[in-house]
Amino acid sequence: MTKSLSIAVIPADGVGREVVEVGRQVLEEAVAATGGDADLTWTEYPWGSEYYAEHGTMMAADGLERLREHDAIYFGAVGWPGVPDHVSLWGLRLAICQGFDQWANVRPVVFHPGITSPLRKADTTPLDWVVVRENSEGEYAGIGGRNFSARDGGEVAVQSSLFTESGCERIMRFAFDLARTRDRKKVASVTKSNAQQYGMVLWDDVFRRVAADYPDVETESVLVDAMAAKFVLRPEELSVVVASNLNADILSDLGSALAGSLGLASSANLDPDRRFPSMFEPVHGSAPDIAGTGVANPIGAVLSGALMLDHLGLTDAGDAVRAAVDAVTGSGVLTPDLGGTSGTADVTSALLAELRSAGDAATARAGAGTAAR
Ligand code: NAI
Ligand code: MG
Repeated sequence: MTKSLSIAVIPADGVGREVVEVGRQVLEEAVAATGGDADLTWTEYPWGSEYYAEHGTMMAADGLERLREHDAIYFGAVGWPGVPDHVSLWGLRLAICQGFDQWANVRPVVFHPGITSPLRKADTTPLDWVVVRENSEGEYAGIGGRNFSARDGGEVAVQSSLFTESGCERIMRFAFDLARTRDRKKVASVTKSNAQQYGMVLWDDVFRRVAADYPDVETESVLVDAMAAKFVLRPEELSVVVASNLNADILSDLGSALAGSLGLASSANLDPDRRFPSMFEPVHGSAPDIAGTGVANPIGAVLSGALMLDHLGLTDAGDAVRAAVDAVTGSGVLTPDLGGTSGTADVTSALLAELRSAGDAATARAGAGTAAR
């Protein structure tokens, strides 16, 4: 039976628009190559910095209500010179993540064939880990304010972090459940409880309590500064890394840089309770420095699309996308951020060709099976 899936697309700004367009084509091809038993409908929303210039808001007033009708959201990147970054981020991406309680942000760090990592260790050691980011509270709770601007040079700002026991617990259970599905069953918790004696001590307490329910999963608790060093020096010890909103945001950029480029990194903003649509987006931003020049690396967006297919129950198609990406990087079709000379369009054609030939091979195998009977 064909499954009908409705996807909201928000390309937003800069290279976000370029890479999301590639992702759509690649996902359609992947679904076709793996039997075509799903029908994807794409509804594009024109929200972002240009919309802001025209309407004074980053998205329509009933934006969340409209998005809610969809099975998933495919997002590009938001932010453009002329609109303050905190306005664009809070007005769109964070409005959706928090409005839909997408509390788990999953950011795999994957080392692909054919890509030179700045880590020498990656040449000889298989590396692969995933950063699980608490995505609903912590340092990005948006609690605080600015005041006393009339005091000459004496304005003050307060930015508070919010850590709740239930918020910590749900993300940690998510991390442990994910660890159980991986070859190496281990969760590392990223903390800073030496300096942040309230929020991060609660974080540590909850981690210890949740860990007791998962005796089969190895654990460690590492200060965020030491974890930054560990990403570089002993990454082979990592499997699932769970961290607060800010810490995970920083560490996942480090992870993707170690894998070769920010342009490779994918992410899923999940509501694991499935009350709301989840949102899938590359980790990178709108890259105004290269937007419009045809060299944006589409792989981060494409792999985010693969995470979306997994979430929608189309794991064969998700696997086909991941295999196509590895085949294309392995064959040396690389954008300049990876040291290559190919453009976005070259990588796109190579991915589509790879998926088409995988689809043809599958059809031929099915045909041979029929002939043999
Ligand atoms: P950025 O991720 O846009 O760019 C950082 C560097 O990585 C730049 O040199 C850029 O050229 C490169 N890069 C990024 N994506 C690439 C790709 N697909 N292919 C090749 N190279 C790529 O981060 P930046 O410059 O700090 O921020 C630019 C804007 O994006 C700002 O307005 C910022 O607020 C916004 N932003 C939005 C995010 C989101 O929508 N989730 C995340 C991060 C930043
Ligand atoms: Mg970031």
